[in-house]
Amino acid sequence: MGEIGTKRWNFEENEAVEVSLNVRHFQNLLTENLDGNDSRSVISLGHGDPSPFSSFQTDPAAVEAVADALRSAQFNHYSSSSGILLARKAVAEYLSRDLTSKICENDVYLTAGCHQSIELLISTLAAAVPGANILLPRPTYPFYDARAAFSKLEIRRYDLLPENGWEVDLDAVEALADHKTVAMLLINPCNPCGKVFTRQHLHKIAETASKLGVLVIADEIYKDMSFGEKPFVSMAEFAETVPVMMLGGISKRWFVPGWRFGWIVTLDPHCIMKDSGLVRSLGNVFNMSTDPTTFVQGAIPEILGKTREEFFSTKLEILRECAETCYEEMKKIPCITCPYKPEGSMFTMVKLEVSLLEDISDDLEFCFKLAREESVIILPGQAVGLNNWLRVFFAVDLELLVQGLSRLHNFALRHSKKKMMMKLPISSVSVSE
Ligand SMILES: Cc1ncc(COP(=O)(O)O)c(C=O)c1O
Repeated sequence: MGEIGTKRWNFEENEAVEVSLNVRHFQNLLTENLDGNDSRSVISLGHGDPSPFSSFQTDPAAVEAVADALRSAQFNHYSSSSGILLARKAVAEYLSRDLTSKICENDVYLTAGCHQSIELLISTLAAAVPGANILLPRPTYPFYDARAAFSKLEIRRYDLLPENGWEVDLDAVEALADHKTVAMLLINPCNPCGKVFTRQHLHKIAETASKLGVLVIADEIYKDMSFGEKPFVSMAEFAETVPVMMLGGISKRWFVPGWRFGWIVTLDPHCIMKDSGLVRSLGNVFNMSTDPTTFVQGAIPEILGKTREEFFSTKLEILRECAETCYEEMKKIPCITCPYKPEGSMFTMVKLEVSLLEDISDDLEFCFKLAREESVIILPGQAVGLNNWLRVFFAVDLELLVQGLSRLHNFALRHSKKKMMMKLPISSVSVSE
């Protein structure tokens, strides 16, 4: 080897690759910590992918659409940089259905899933204004935080308030913003807390953002996945008030995250983003990036245009039952409080009362021990920015969900302080599987 091992090399670790807020990072740590000798199956209520479960299979017609597009041999070519026209048109029509003003295909940019939408949008925003900052929610969907840190875009966090049904702390938003704040993010329906924002609250958010001169990133990947009392309302309705970058895709509503198809839509009726040059920059960033697979784009008019309403309503009903079960079972667990019944997305946040536990000091230790002792994976709140909370994914087969929550309950009882245990209604605890 000689001097090669001792020589000075010019490259080094990139510290901007943030791991502290990264779902996959925590998921991997917890998976490594499982007890290989536990004969029971692993139940993951951590990672947001419902597609392996029989209750959440996609519409067979969507599968046919992709197969047909592939067999047609018409979509073997490279894509154009913001996506092929017929797919962009189909997305514009699909998103326009419930809106008062219509979306034009020229405002639609297709991506390899909403993750790529986030990646490209954050890169564009970061580069546009030196020293720029962005307002991200707490709790968050941490991919935004990771991409912002990677792009050296300063992160400022505003709170979603559990005591106010997870509404945005708008006073904090106003206090945080300055002339370098380029955007604020709103995820609706919300991952991680299951919130569906009302029209009135969306309006207030739009007015606040407009007053501050920042655009709204409306992450609507869970569009229409609202199963509570409130209907889903798109931030697109407020584009007259504030410029909106709307993000979405088919991963969630069609339960096909592996198909990698998403979009960014610029909603800019007053040409504010266009005149600022931001839209051109976005186009340039798309020119430098990978495109979604062309045959998936080829299937998009069929998928978006022809999926039956019954497919969505059936899946929504299953999701509602899962959410309800999750909430009711969680409420019975001594060291957990549930401030909000989830109304949308596939997640809920519950609070961990660490002071009631005997030998567990925080959410991370709770999740590590839970994985080790019960083969159940739940994401610690710190992975989404809230210490001593848990983020629970409930879009799994109901039977499995009940088993997972039962193991969680037993685990919590075992680790509860003795005085607590005596107070518990033991009859409510199911130990069977
Ligand atoms: C809020 C949010 N945005 C974006 C994404 C990424 O979506 P996709 O699977 O289309 O990349 C997810 C995935 O879980 C999400 O929860």
